[in-house]
Amino acid sequence: MKKNILITGASGQLGQFFIEKLAENNNVISTDINVSRELVKKYDLKFLDALNETKVRKFIDKYHIDEIYNFASILSAKAEKYPLKSFQLNTNCFLNIVKASISSSVKKIFWPSSIAVFSKESNLGYVKQDVIKNPITIYGASKLSCEKVINYFNINGLLDIRSIRFPGIVSSSTPGGGTTDFIVEMINNIKSKKKYICPLSPNTILPMMHVNDAVDASVKLMSVPRKNIKINDSYNISSFETTPNEWKNLICEMGHKLEVDFQPDFRQKIADSWPRKIDDEQIRKDLNWKPKFNKIKTLKSVI
Ligand SMILES: NC(=O)c1ccc[n+]([C@@H]2O[C@H](COP(=O)([O-])OP(=O)(O)OC[C@H]3O[C@@H](n4cnc5c(N)ncnc54)[C@H](O)[C@@H]3O)[C@@H](O)[C@H]2O)c1
Repeated sequence: MKKNILITGASGQLGQFFIEKLAENNNVISTDINVSRELVKKYDLKFLDALNETKVRKFIDKYHIDEIYNFASILSAKAEKYPLKSFQLNTNCFLNIVKASISSSVKKIFWPSSIAVFSKESNLGYVKQDVIKNPITIYGASKLSCEKVINYFNINGLLDIRSIRFPGIVSSSTPGGGTTDFIVEMINNIKSKKKYICPLSPNTILPMMHVNDAVDASVKLMSVPRKNIKINDSYNISSFETTPNEWKNLICEMGHKLEVDFQPDFRQKIADSWPRKIDDEQIRKDLNWKPKFNKIKTLKSVI
């Protein structure tokens, strides 16, 4: 049976890929505060401020929403410029959606966390599922706070909230101001033929995944019975690791011309506090899932 699914923050880097996948079998209500004419035409995008609990509840009731995917947020690098506003927005959008969902038609919520919850204490060379986390960014702090709330709601059976800690996501869409944006921006710079100023040093290793793998894992996580889910806060997930230098070389080896100047800025400190490799054994086991896109396949698909 078709479900009614509400997506908030649907205009961002990830939103359109979730809309397209979910719309294959469901009625999708796509919303954002950024409603471009193009997205309104393409996806019937509607204006909804996820900070407005009353309006969120009106959408839930009007469309008899079964599930919510909440992407409304400010990402890591952008968040450092407005720390308090970003913490408030990231946590309050999530809390409002939780509040509006209680005693409503909503059965499940999907909420993406991030590898930003980790820190030097997490053993960044290979980060296990359940480790010490002391994020140094306000974005990481907001993600970790929401993970704690998710754990609370799940262990007390108050609401079914499912979550994955995404690494850098590689897609053909425009990124929203994260620390891993170089991976998409380098590709965009081939098209514009401009020299790319990379904000990270050439050998910074970071975990990444293709957007289709992120979407597939998320939709699968939302489809399995609750009893299959062994993690009450947020699942580690990953696909491959790369560095800005390796990514640039791979692009050039494919015959594209790309000039890169490495000029690390404040984002280097953020990247240095993030994992180099992720242990995602638990999600692979619980969902019987594995990524379909390796590094080369990912690059070929977005270039
Ligand atoms: N893109 C990545 O690499 C990545 C990695 C890890 C986690 N995530 C998480 O995935 C989610 C989606 O990421 P994204 O890359 O699409 O982000 P994005 O920045 O591209 O999009 C976020 C969207 O939220 C919208 N928004 C902001 N405030 C809002 C509000 N008050 N009400 C409604 N909408 C609002 C923005 O207009 C924007 O369209 C976020 O929670 C992010 O933290 C993304």
